[in-house]
Amino acid sequence: MKKIVTVQRSEVNQGVIPAPVFTGVNSSGNPGYDKMDARFHGHDKNGRRELPEAELLPNISVVGLGKLGLCSAVCFASKGFKVIGVDIDIDKINKINKGISPIDETGLDELLKKVKGSLRATSDYSEAILRTDITFIVVATPSLADGSFSNDYLEKSLHKIGSALRKKKSYHLVVVTSTVMPQTVETVVKFMLEKTSGKICGKDFGIAYNPEFIALGSVLHDFLNPDFLLIGEISKKDGDMLEDIYNRVCENKPRFARMSPLNAEITKIALNCYVTTKITFANSIAAICEKVKGADANVIASALGLDTRIGAKYIRPGLGYGGPCFPRDNVAFSAFARRLEIKAKLAEMVDEVNRDQVTRLIKRVHEILGGFKSDKGKIRIAVLGLSYKPNTPIIEDSQALNITQVLVSEGYRVSVYDPQALENVRGVLGDMVRYAKDADDCIKDADLALIAVPWQEFKKINFRKLSKKVIFLDCWRLLEGVKGINIKYLGAGI
Ligand SMILES: NC(=O)c1ccc[n+]([C@@H]2O[C@H](COP(=O)([O-])OP(=O)(O)OC[C@H]3O[C@@H](n4cnc5c(N)ncnc54)[C@H](O)[C@@H]3O)[C@@H](O)[C@H]2O)c1
Repeated sequence: MKKIVTVQRSEVNQGVIPAPVFTGVNSSGNPGYDKMDARFHGHDKNGRRELPEAELLPNISVVGLGKLGLCSAVCFASKGFKVIGVDIDIDKINKINKGISPIDETGLDELLKKVKGSLRATSDYSEAILRTDITFIVVATPSLADGSFSNDYLEKSLHKIGSALRKKKSYHLVVVTSTVMPQTVETVVKFMLEKTSGKICGKDFGIAYNPEFIALGSVLHDFLNPDFLLIGEISKKDGDMLEDIYNRVCENKPRFARMSPLNAEITKIALNCYVTTKITFANSIAAICEKVKGADANVIASALGLDTRIGAKYIRPGLGYGGPCFPRDNVAFSAFARRLEIKAKLAEMVDEVNRDQVTRLIKRVHEILGGFKSDKGKIRIAVLGLSYKPNTPIIEDSQALNITQVLVSEGYRVSVYDPQALENVRGVLGDMVRYAKDADDCIKDADLALIAVPWQEFKKINFRKLSKKVIFLDCWRLLEGVKGINIKYLGAGI
């Protein structure tokens, strides 16, 4: 019979908000995963590592319960792991423990309720480290003025993890999931953990880098169905442990790219930098096509995507990229090159061209509305969509929002609508625009309606009831096929 040991709260430090005790930790009572080789059952006929039995699963802690961390914690818990989440935000902790999601993310509310009992949040690091075998750090690493990432939150969390490790008798793996600059894990992370724990990396504890490639709005889906898992490891044992966890968690059969932490750090930002390049290439084609009567960037980009050397994803003309990952990873790539006293010219140019997209769009608006001489105060523009992409309220580095700000500053009368982002937009635009209650309300009386984000619900606009004079400028070809409206497309020759 399997022995079930419950770790008593008296064994650990009492924090401000301790996590409720789990009634069934892994069978060896949180022994650390150093006995992992004994748990490893070999490879299946496809060469994949076989999964350990459920009761041998390591317990997981996740530090930083934000947009990525909470989703990761919930996904781990939904696949049978006991998870302790750590955050410094007490309000967030209380909500999570009540099964209420503090974050807007597709499917998160439901899944959080389902995993009640397997996921608990706390502000107590000791409790989290002592009761688990592996810790994922997912705190924010905001961009600094030079484009590199700040380690402030990371260092604060490392300090607390290291202090807790000091009391731990068994092996513990610390995994950095936050996006960090290359050369961080094997220098800053190793140094801080060794210093604060008094222990030796590789012997008493392990470190690894395991960043995620997820998009807001589909974080749960992307986490559970990744193209591949990027693992930067110092020891094979640590990489194996991560591979075992993801083989259990992922609903597809992802490939694993295992390498040193340094190579994984460079891979993370290089990958996003490449995607931004691809997006920007499509937009460069669009800028050219606009000047050639009859040319159509979408037709061209679709054909390019058929070539397997190129592939169809992210080669779609539009307003350009935004959000909390692509712009900053691109800029961080250049910042890393500058540290090495070289120039990442391509990455820098991609960033510049993407910023120029706003100017390109504004020029197009001027052309459609008859040039600079128009009395802008009388012209009404409806902006449909303000988030950085559909299915999220996030407006960070949103091209649509940047464009709206320019339109307002030029004196146009602007009304805005977004299915999820209006509350966030209010914080930026205040009373400079009219906030519409829906898309139909937004374009009521408008001279020009800008489809700035391809939210599917804009297809349901009651086009029959429109006043005839509205001109649509569709930046994403969302309304292609709608009959009887005056429509112009970005990327199509005038
Ligand atoms: N959100 C994404 O789309 C995404 C995608 C890929 C990678 N990432 C990376 O993941 C990391 C986290 O991003 P996010 O968007 O989830 O950030 P976020 O700001 O939404 O969440 C960060 C969380 O960490 C908590 N926190 C801060 N300091 C802490 C500390 N010392 N101890 C415990 N908790 C602490 C905050 O209270 C917050 O809940 C970043 O490095 C980001 O680049 C994010």
